[in-house]
Amino acid sequence: MILSIESSCDDSSIAITEIESKKLLYHKKISQELEHSVYGGVVPELASRLHAEALPRILEECTPYFADLKAIAVTTAPGLNVTLVEGVTMAKALSISLRLPLIAVNHLKGHIYSLFIEKQTRFPLTVLLVSGGHTQVIEVGSFEEMTMVATTMDDSFGESFDKVSKMMNLGYPGGPVIEKMAQSGDENRYAMPLPLSQSPLFAFSYSGLKNAVRLVSLEAKEEEYPDIAASFQKAAVAHLTHKLKKYFKSTPPKHFAIVGGASANLYLRQAIELILKPYDATLCLAKMEYCSDNAAMIGRVAVEMYERELFTPLAELVTEPRTSL
Ligand code: KG4
Ligand code: ZN
Repeated sequence: MILSIESSCDDSSIAITEIESKKLLYHKKISQELEHSVYGGVVPELASRLHAEALPRILEECTPYFADLKAIAVTTAPGLNVTLVEGVTMAKALSISLRLPLIAVNHLKGHIYSLFIEKQTRFPLTVLLVSGGHTQVIEVGSFEEMTMVATTMDDSFGESFDKVSKMMNLGYPGGPVIEKMAQSGDENRYAMPLPLSQSPLFAFSYSGLKNAVRLVSLEAKEEEYPDIAASFQKAAVAHLTHKLKKYFKSTPPKHFAIVGGASANLYLRQAIELILKPYDATLCLAKMEYCSDNAAMIGRVAVEMYERELFTPLAELVTEPRTSL
C-alpha cells in the first residue's frame, strides 16, 4: 500500500491506496473553508497552521496500515509553499521512521488521475483542468505523455468565482456559492465581456471579466446579486466553450474530461456536453467527492510512479516553485 498526503492549499488529506488493485482503502480530508471564509480567500499562514493540526490527527487513524506500506507519497508542486511544506515534512518523517521510499507527486497530475478513482477511465484524453489555481487544456496520451496546450494569462476559472463571491461578500470558496445563486438569476441581465474573443490565441483570461463584474457589483443592490452571479457564470463558461470550439476544429475531440475543483459546476458540465455533441465525443468526469483537492488522487498517481520506480531521495524531496505539470 501507499500512504499519500495532500496539503497544497486549504485541504488536509491523507489516503491509503493498494498498489496491485489500485483500490482506495482509506481516505480522509479536513477542509479549512470555514476558517478562510471570513477573509474571502485562503490565508497561507493560517492554512499552514491548520495543516499542522489536521494532518497528524488524520495520520493517527492510519496507523493500522503502517505495517503494509511500501512508499510514502506527497504533493510537492504546484501549490502554496508554506502549506506544501507541511505535507512534505510529514512525508519525510514517515519515510525515515518507517524506512520507506518517497514519491513526489505533481498536484495537476493528481487531478487528472482523479478520473481513475473508483471508475474505469482510459487514455488518451483531452483534459480541461479548472481549479482555483489553474485553467488548462492538457492533451494526455499516457502517464508519460502530457502536453499542456492552453493556459490562463492571469486568473484561473475557479479563482474568478472566488473573487466575484468576495466582491458580493458571499464567502469562500466562491464556486459553489455563485453556482447556486446563479440558479435563481437572469443570466441575460448584464452583458459581460467575452474574454479574448478577438484573439487567435488558444489561451484563457479572467481578469477583464472580473473587473467588469466589479463595476456592476459596486452599483448593485443585494437583490440583484443572483442576476450578477448568473451573468458572470454565463460569460466565464462561454469563454471556455468559445476557445474549445475553435480548438476542436483543428483537433476534434474523442474522449474529453473535466477535472479540478470547478469541474463540479453543473452549468459548465452541460455547456461542455453541448460542444462535444457534434463530435460524438465522450465526457469523462471524476466522482464528485474527488473533484476538489484530495489525497486519493495523489495516491492514484503514486501507484503509477511506484510501478515505474519513480522515487525521490529524501534530501532531494523539496517543494517546487513550478506552476505546471
Ligand atoms: O481543485 P481545487 O479543490 O483546488 C485547487 O487546486 O485550486 O479547486 C478549488 C476551486 C476554487 O476556486 C473553487 O471556488 C472552485 O474550485 N469551485 C468551483 C465550484 N466548486 C469549486 N467553481 C465553480 N463552480 C463550482 N461549483
Ligand atoms: Zn487542486
